[in-house]
Amino acid sequence: MAILVLGGAGYIGSHTVYELIDAGRDVVVADNLQTGFRAAVHPKARFYELDIRDRPALDALFERESIEGVIHFAASSQVGESMTDPLKYYDNNLCGTMVLLQSMVAHQVGKIVFSSTAATYGERSQMPILESDRTEPTNCYGETKLSMERMMGWVSRAHGLRYVALRYFNACGAHPSGSIGEAHDPETHLVPVILQVPNGRRAAVSVFGGDYPTKDGTCVRDYIHVTDLAQAHILALDYLLRGGENNVFNLGNGVGFTVREVIECARAVTGHPIPAELSPRRAGDPAQLVASSEKAKAVLGWRPRYNDLETIVASAWNWHKNHPNGYQEG
Ligand code: UFG
Repeated sequence: MAILVLGGAGYIGSHTVYELIDAGRDVVVADNLQTGFRAAVHPKARFYELDIRDRPALDALFERESIEGVIHFAASSQVGESMTDPLKYYDNNLCGTMVLLQSMVAHQVGKIVFSSTAATYGERSQMPILESDRTEPTNCYGETKLSMERMMGWVSRAHGLRYVALRYFNACGAHPSGSIGEAHDPETHLVPVILQVPNGRRAAVSVFGGDYPTKDGTCVRDYIHVTDLAQAHILALDYLLRGGENNVFNLGNGVGFTVREVIECARAVTGHPIPAELSPRRAGDPAQLVASSEKAKAVLGWRPRYNDLETIVASAWNWHKNHPNGYQEG
């Protein structure tokens, strides 16, 4: 039986496929390659180019492959874009998940692990955030992810499907081998944006907002290595395969860093001065997001290995310095 990874050509998806294959699993990847890259797909995975909103294509895949569980990354994931183009997020994230679940129910594939987000919580004053805290998204991206969680809940009640939602905090870093890493076009995430400066692709990094109620006025985030996230997906799938019930887990390191601290760390790692300039706040950004991941540690046995920022940024730099144009040549 195989594991189906939807969005397995994307950043977190491709790293999860590498971990699954290293663990000896049989892996099928499906991706529409709109934001993912064919070159990021592990050569040992069977690849299907398809869009999860395409029901006949999904049905054909489930009929051809013997799938025991699904890991679902296929979604749009930019907070800023979700505020200017919310309908794209409803279409890709919610309609896409709806079609996927219709096809899974029809083919009696009953286990799914999927990417949720810290953005489901919105602006919380108590850190670290627990899974039981209130969810009040401040951006449309977080809203669609929370709706995906709820959709899974209703489908579970009606059809017996079981799910795990993994609420990631800020994914960053790259595979230790240096063969895959983070690449978005356009790039919006803080760590790769910062690293474009020493790579000569950007003159300075913009700091979005300097008047937040944090220690230096810039936003605080919990940065977690992509390989640690990938491991959590495998643990969550095995938990479902053992009969585990529907569940939601935060995934972070439990330590918050300001935007300025991340820039400072990248200066130390790269040896480049990395100029920074203050810009207006970005719409939809909460002041701080720091996880409690005690539940994932207790229930799944998750143990993040890369828990200091310098190691995480160094692994990102190891990829970016050798792939300044991501997966594109030249
Ligand atoms: N930032 C800057 N300058 C930049 C880019 C980002 O100052 O050029 C700041 C942002 O304002 C934010 C922090 O850096 O305060 C991190 O921003 P990212 O865009 O890297 O990440 P986000 O926190 O906005 O969002 C990420 C993922 C989401 C996920 C969220 C959960 O993109 O999918 O983490 O915290 F939901």
